[in-house]
Amino acid sequence: MERKEKVVFVTGAARGIGKEICLEMAKEGYDISLNYRTKTDEVEELKKKIENFGVKCTIVQGDVASYEECEKMINQTVEELGKIDIVVNNAGITKDGLLMRMSKEDFTDVIDINLVGTFNVTRNVIPLMVKQKSGRIINIASVVGVAGNAGQTNYSASKAGIIGFTKSLAKEVSSRNILVNAVAPGFICTDMTKDLPDNLKETINTQIPLKRMGTPEDVAKVVKFLASEDSSYITGQVIHVDGGMLM
Ligand code: NAI
Repeated sequence: MERKEKVVFVTGAARGIGKEICLEMAKEGYDISLNYRTKTDEVEELKKKIENFGVKCTIVQGDVASYEECEKMINQTVEELGKIDIVVNNAGITKDGLLMRMSKEDFTDVIDINLVGTFNVTRNVIPLMVKQKSGRIINIASVVGVAGNAGQTNYSASKAGIIGFTKSLAKEVSSRNILVNAVAPGFICTDMTKDLPDNLKETINTQIPLKRMGTPEDVAKVVKFLASEDSSYITGQVIHVDGGMLM
């Protein structure tokens, strides 16, 4: 695939869905700015893999929960790759527990990273996109942001917040040729879900019409579509990638 000379900034890109989004987009010819929070050897390996597709890659370290660090990461990306065409707000955490026992920190940490993190990145990139009169923002939500889930009041509130944020921003920036959409994955095999007990995974599978958990590729391919010209009439939408779990 030829280099598109378009730049994608992906948060929480060191592993899981974020990593797969980087690889899928690099394969398609996009230059990649990949954010990670905690240093691992995997990030350097991922950079090499991305560059093997013949595209440019830069690594930006920082915590999406910090507004200042997001500002720095966006500036560094523009300095090194020239611009930002697409943002994928993927970084996210869970701190599950019943509300009766949930600490205030467990609630606010999840909101600060998942929801405020999405604001911090987007707020710093939108002025650039307005200036260049084009852009795509793709936010990774979750089906639990739509349906709710016992034990995840913090996480589902953050993801429902992301959905409201997506729709409102889509209306604000549509006249500037900036499209804003969300992807709502169901159960995807990553580090986030690997510790679920096997019997729970079995039960989950029986509730999924397609009878399997999703893969990071399943999500990355939809992100690739939402970044492409093929989706130029889609904005403010939440695309469920969940094997039919929620209809
Ligand atoms: P993961 O735990 O493998 O990856 C999350 C990444 O975000 C990690 O690389 C982590 O270091 C990074 N991250 C966490 N806090 C950060 C911060 N403050 N700043 C920068 N990076 C940070 O999880 P997975 O499954 O790849 O999740 C990716 C996204 O998909 C998340 O937003 C998650 O909520 C969402 N999702 C995942 C589902 C699943 O079943 N795995 C289902 C629905 C949504």
